[in-house]
Amino acid sequence: MAAHPDVDLERRRALLERVIADPPLVHRDAPNGAAWRTSRSCYEYLAEVARPGDVTLETGAGLSTVLFTLWGCRHTAVVPDAAEAEAIESWCDARGFDRSGLTFDLRPSEVALPDRVEDGLLDVVLLDGAHSFPLPVLDWFYGASRLRRGGVVVFDDLPLPAVAWLLADYLDLDPRWTRMAGTRKWRAYRRESEGSLAEHESAQQFFRGPTASLTGRVTGWIGTMLPKRLRRVVLPQ
Ligand SMILES: C[S@@+](CC[C@H](N)C(=O)[O-])C[C@H]1O[C@@H](n2cnc3c(N)ncnc32)[C@H](O)[C@@H]1O
Repeated sequence: MAAHPDVDLERRRALLERVIADPPLVHRDAPNGAAWRTSRSCYEYLAEVARPGDVTLETGAGLSTVLFTLWGCRHTAVVPDAAEAEAIESWCDARGFDRSGLTFDLRPSEVALPDRVEDGLLDVVLLDGAHSFPLPVLDWFYGASRLRRGGVVVFDDLPLPAVAWLLADYLDLDPRWTRMAGTRKWRAYRRESEGSLAEHESAQQFFRGPTASLTGRVTGWIGTMLPKRLRRVVLPQ
């Protein structure tokens, strides 16, 4: 698909206003009867980082899907609901918007993303599909593993425990992810590495795990400082 060189930031912001004023009716069960959505500030941030021609991916679908498409991204939405995909396609067609850059994968993300892990590098990933444990972790592991160095992953619904745990206990501590923007509802990180996210535990010295108590955290921290042979002697097994 040809890039859309004319969709500069000002135009992307104008398209955002247009979509907010006239949203696709994607999620009839949403409180507003139209679509579940994230904060305006999250869409504004995405407008800054998702440029025409970028290769982008999201879990879930909604206003965000329409926006990536209108901004000229080569976009894949992974969502296991054909009705949502049809609503988005009809919305674009009825308004004469080019949707040639948009592809749907109508499988749950936990099935689709492992299957697509060799599909090539991504510039921007939005994770806003399933939010129950461990699905956000799987989405990050398989989706964000395809991010190029300098690419951006955005998480929505931070107050939900499966998302909060991943960010507070892992990503915020990992120097290979730089926190870029966000609110209490969403957060964006830039990737400072590239390739698979599978690695040996020795590459995760910063990770002390979702330990409930301060004692557990301190013990974990001491453990990382000790030679391996002393850990079994000093730390509770
Ligand atoms: C909060 S909505 C997404 C809103 C959208 N990002 C926006 O800004 O308009 C959550 C979406 O996740 C989808 N979903 C639920 N379970 C999923 C799964 N296992 N894999 C992928 N998407 C899933 C739902 O169908 C719904 O489209």
